[in-house]
Amino acid sequence: MTKKNFLIPEESEDLKEWYNSLGVQFLKKISVKKGFYILDFGCRTGTYTFPAAKLVGPKGRVFALDCEQEAIDEIRRKSILLDLTNIVVPIKTDGELIIPLEDGSADLTLLYDVIGIIVRNKDGIKVLNQLIKEIQRITKNKGELSVIFKHIDRWEFSKEQVMSTIQQFFTLIRKESIQHIHWNFFEIDIVYTFKKE
Ligand SMILES: C[S@@+](CC[C@H](N)C(=O)[O-])C[C@H]1O[C@@H](n2cnc3c(N)ncnc32)[C@H](O)[C@@H]1O
Repeated sequence: MTKKNFLIPEESEDLKEWYNSLGVQFLKKISVKKGFYILDFGCRTGTYTFPAAKLVGPKGRVFALDCEQEAIDEIRRKSILLDLTNIVVPIKTDGELIIPLEDGSADLTLLYDVIGIIVRNKDGIKVLNQLIKEIQRITKNKGELSVIFKHIDRWEFSKEQVMSTIQQFFTLIRKESIQHIHWNFFEIDIVYTFKKE
């Protein structure tokens, strides 16, 4: 783990504490280890990217993927400020569900507050199926997928349909309520961990 304190001057005290301590503890709880290669799919401005970079350290990588140019610009800006350009790899996509990584390149994918965006559309389950299949491809054998669902009230599909789509490609191994940041607020919600068998 990188001992250096991650400080982005304009960010809130909560976010600073999250990057340096609470976010790292959160990721340890979901079994992230030093040296891991992580995909943060739908990273936005890096709520999970930066504590993950701190935890995996210089031998690990965090692929921070998003379809929004502003999000990727922000990831790049913070990575330079925090001297993490050798750990954080920003990836801008056009929203297509092709992940530009080789087969078996990640120990873990974080899929936090992204599924709700996909399954609020009528073709959501089909799209989710493509995404989870693609995540399975880039995950190492015995690697994991960590999911937090949000905004379930806006979904076009039931949670059972979403869970069974994920479980076509991964096996559910843990389900635990853990405090985490959602936008800029602390919340407690279920974190689901799935394994590639
Ligand atoms: C609600 S934010 C969640 C951010 C972060 N994971 C978190 O929990 O703080 C969802 C992010 O996913 C990105 N996103 C949504 N659909 C995507 C897609 N098909 N490909 C890449 N990024 C996507 C959005 O641009 C946005 O930055």
